[in-house]
Parts: sequence; C-alpha cells; structure tokens
Amino acid sequence: MSHPSVPFFRPTIEEDEIAAVTAVLRSGWLTTGPETREFEREFAAYVGARHAVAVNSCTAALHLALETVGLKRGDLVLVPTFTFAATAEVVRYFDATPVLVDCEPTTLCLDLAAARRTLEALTAGRPVAGVRAPYGRVRAVIPMHYAGQALDVEGVRALAREFDLRVVEDAAHALPADYRDGAGAWRRIGANTADATCFSFYANKTITTGEGGMLCTDDDGVAERARIMALHGISRDAWKRYTAEGSWYYEIVAPGFKYNMTDVAAALGRCQLRKCDRLAAERRRLAEAYRTRLGDVDALELPREAEGRHHAWHLFVIRLNLERLRIDRAAFVDELKRRGVMFSVAWLPLHMHPYYRETYGIRAEDLPVAAREWLRVVSLPLFPGMTAAEHDAVVAAVREIVAQHRR
Ligand SMILES: Cc1ncc(COP(=O)(O)O)c(C=O)c1O
Repeated sequence: MSHPSVPFFRPTIEEDEIAAVTAVLRSGWLTTGPETREFEREFAAYVGARHAVAVNSCTAALHLALETVGLKRGDLVLVPTFTFAATAEVVRYFDATPVLVDCEPTTLCLDLAAARRTLEALTAGRPVAGVRAPYGRVRAVIPMHYAGQALDVEGVRALAREFDLRVVEDAAHALPADYRDGAGAWRRIGANTADATCFSFYANKTITTGEGGMLCTDDDGVAERARIMALHGISRDAWKRYTAEGSWYYEIVAPGFKYNMTDVAAALGRCQLRKCDRLAAERRRLAEAYRTRLGDVDALELPREAEGRHHAWHLFVIRLNLERLRIDRAAFVDELKRRGVMFSVAWLPLHMHPYYRETYGIRAEDLPVAAREWLRVVSLPLFPGMTAAEHDAVVAAVREIVAQHRR
C-alpha cells in the first residue's frame, strides 16, 4: 500500500491572513504600529494578562524578561535541561550561569523535587553538577511547559517564594494551556502565572506570525521596562514618535535591544489568535485520535493529558519502549522517513550538548532522567488541517514499524 507523504507541520494560513497582511502592506506602515498594539491588547485579553508586549521571538521575550527581573553577571538561574536552546542561552546573554535541572519522567517538565535539592545544595554550599563555587546569587527559575502541558505552576511559585526567586515562564509550547489551581479554578498560562510568561509564534507553533513572540505580565514595572528595552532603551516607540500621538522628542534610558514586532507580523497574529480556540480543538481531536488508534501498541508510551490540565498539544511526543523493540530511536525515525512520515526529536538535553558539557563540565549521568528519556522520544506530525489520509498514514507507518521490529 502506498502512503501519502506527511509533513511534520503545515501552518494554517487562510484568506483572512492573506487579506490582513496585504492591507498592512498597502497601508504604508510596516513596522510596529496600530496592528501591533491591537494584537497586544487582544492577546492580553485572550490569556488573561494585564500586559502583553509583542516582540520578534520568544527568545527575545525571554531575554527581556530576565533583564526586567534584574538578572546580573554571575547570577544563577535554574533551567530544565530538557528544553530548547533558547531557554538557557538567554541566561548566558548576561554572563550568568544556567543551572541545569533534570526533568520529571511523566511530563518531561522541570522536576521540582530535583530543583529543590539543587537549591538546597546551592544554599548550603554543597557541590552541584555544572556549577562552580563560589556560587552566585540564585536569581530566577525558567519553567517550561513541555509539548504544551502546563507543569505544576503552584509548585514552582511555592519554590520561588521559599528561595526568593523570580519566575520567567517559557510558554513557547503552551498556547492555550490551562491548569486547575488548588482552589479548583481553571487558570490559563500567561494569566499572572509568573513574573513574565513568554510565548512563541515561530512558524510551527500553535499560532504563528512566521517569527514572533509575546511577553505577558501583570507587573506594571516589568511591562514598562520590557517595552523600553525591546526598542533600544528608548522611552517612546517610533509610532508614537512619528505620529500625532506623540512628540518628536525621545530619550535613551538604557542600552536596549531591537526586538519590536512588525505590523506585518501582528496582522497575521491577530487573525491567528481569532482562530486559536478552533486550532486548539483540532489539535486535541487529532491527539485523541492518535491515542485511540495507537493505544494498544505496547512498544509505545503515548502522551496523555494529566488530571487538571488542558494540554495545548503543540507536540505529540511518543516514547519508544526500547526493551520491546529490536531497533533504536534512530532506526525507528529512519523507518518513518522511509514511509514518507516526517517527525522531530525534542530534544537532545542541553547538558549533553558540547557547549554545556565543555563549559560546565557536566556529564550525561548527572541528569539521568533526561539522558535516558531523550533516547526514546519521537514527535509525530500533528497540525490543524492534517487530513484523514495523513493521520491514517502516520498511524499505519508507526504500527508497521513496530510490527516488523518487535522483540
Ligand atoms: C521551549 C522553547 N522555548 C523557546 C523557543 C524559542 O522560540 P522562538 O523561536 O520564538 O524564539 C522555542 C522554539 O522552538 C521552544 O521550543
């Protein structure tokens, strides 16, 4: 039987996106302006944040967030090792040290018990893998919601209170993601769930502007500083400077960055945001269909939505039960590709990359859960607009590979 080839991702771009972007192109105003301001307002309302600051990537939002919480050279920041490059590199921008922490085996998010042990060891001056004494001040923690499922937000907050840490959330995967709080109320990631919450609108994210990001916060000071630092440390943005809304005069109050979002991107983002619930519902349906159709394959461990969570299903990450297979993950994904099914692997843990290994002298076995789990993970295609034939092809390919290589 021949299968259609299935891309890992296909963005949902419809006529309204094309019309909105075209209108901006015709308007004569391309960079940060009215579309961006509206996108910020609408995004803040959608997640339930007081402020939203639109920028040109989630990496930029994370960098700005760390700046606003006062990260300084030599400080320490807790970062999960099982994450994308951006989460830790932004700490290095300050010549501060990311303290890499292992992940929790069920959700693959930051292991809060391991984070606590690390904080206790740092406080007591005991050795911590990858951190050189004398220890700097531990300033912040950057929890990340792996694949789109919220981690234990209240657990992070409690830890932050106890050890006097600021919390910057990497919510690149988590739009929209909700959790039930201790009082039983549903809370959305971004609705004052951290000092700053950073979202990504990169091409394959749950909504996209091509490249883009958003920093959400309920802290007026964080929002104001982020706005200033996102545009050269200038006290007013270009739109206000050059239109009747503002004056020609501006002042540089700090050496800022160039992270502002364009109106072209914001127009796209506004259309995508209006579809966010629909796109999320489609992701959920596709994820549930995978769970139903692959649920009996005992060589696989399927991702599931935890109790008290609404998963954003940015990624559908299966884990191979390697002891039930005669092939490893590399051979498994080769087989997928041979059948025309694209995939992704998220991720080689940061502490196993040459830069972190060599700079911090950390060994794979220092963070054993991530070192073990990464060998088993495969992200399957999951995107709104995926056809029934494409879904069938992925399911058939996975079942065939397992059947052929079962131990
Ligand atoms: C967990 C995580 N954090 C941050 C980022 C960075 O996002 P951006 O590409 O918008 O800078 C990504 C991007 O894929 C990510 O997966």
